[in-house]
Amino acid sequence: MDFKTLINARYSVRKYKPEPISEELLNEVLDAGRMAPTAVNFQPFVFIVVNEQGKLKELYHAYPREWFATAPQVIVVCGDHKTSWKRGNDGKDHADIDVAIATDHMTLRAAELGLGTCWVCNFDAEKVSKALNLPGHLEPAVLLPIGRPEEVESPPKKRKSLSELVKFNGY
Ligand SMILES: Cc1cc2nc3c(=O)[nH]c(=O)nc-3n(C[C@H](O)[C@H](O)[C@H](O)COP(=O)(O)O)c2cc1C
Repeated sequence: MDFKTLINARYSVRKYKPEPISEELLNEVLDAGRMAPTAVNFQPFVFIVVNEQGKLKELYHAYPREWFATAPQVIVVCGDHKTSWKRGNDGKDHADIDVAIATDHMTLRAAELGLGTCWVCNFDAEKVSKALNLPGHLEPAVLLPIGRPEEVESPPKKRKSLSELVKFNGY
């Protein structure tokens, strides 16, 4: 699949087949996250793979949606605020940006491998932190369910037009 086709083929999968994906495929996806660029190359993230039923249930309590419970595995992408780059002039913490790039790498690699993912950020972060025993400097930023999609057809993309998004030389 060429890159443009891949970008269009990826979509948010909200129904998964129950079988877990192989360790080999999972590692391919995790490795795509590992290879993402980060500010100053600090790589301020941890990818926590959740595949035990009990832990998956705890994640479900943090994001109680029926479709989410169909995912056989979830990668919890955590930003590390201890090691992330903070911009010198105003202290802006770049952990979220680095996490987002790594997550996007993983979603695209997964799509290339025929796997489905869905960004999930609308969860109870405190419950996730507790369930995974996260230290204070690790923030669970994204829950990324991953598995074989139940439906393979990607819905049409709803996006703003380029003319709405792009300006030249100022706002
Ligand atoms: C930062 C971010 C947070 C998101 N959080 C959620 C979420 O909590 N629950 C959900 O069902 N989808 C979530 N999504 C998925 C978006 O709804 C989805 O990407 C968007 O509607 C575009 O659809 P597509 O991914 O199928 O192209 C999130 C996406 C992003 C990038």
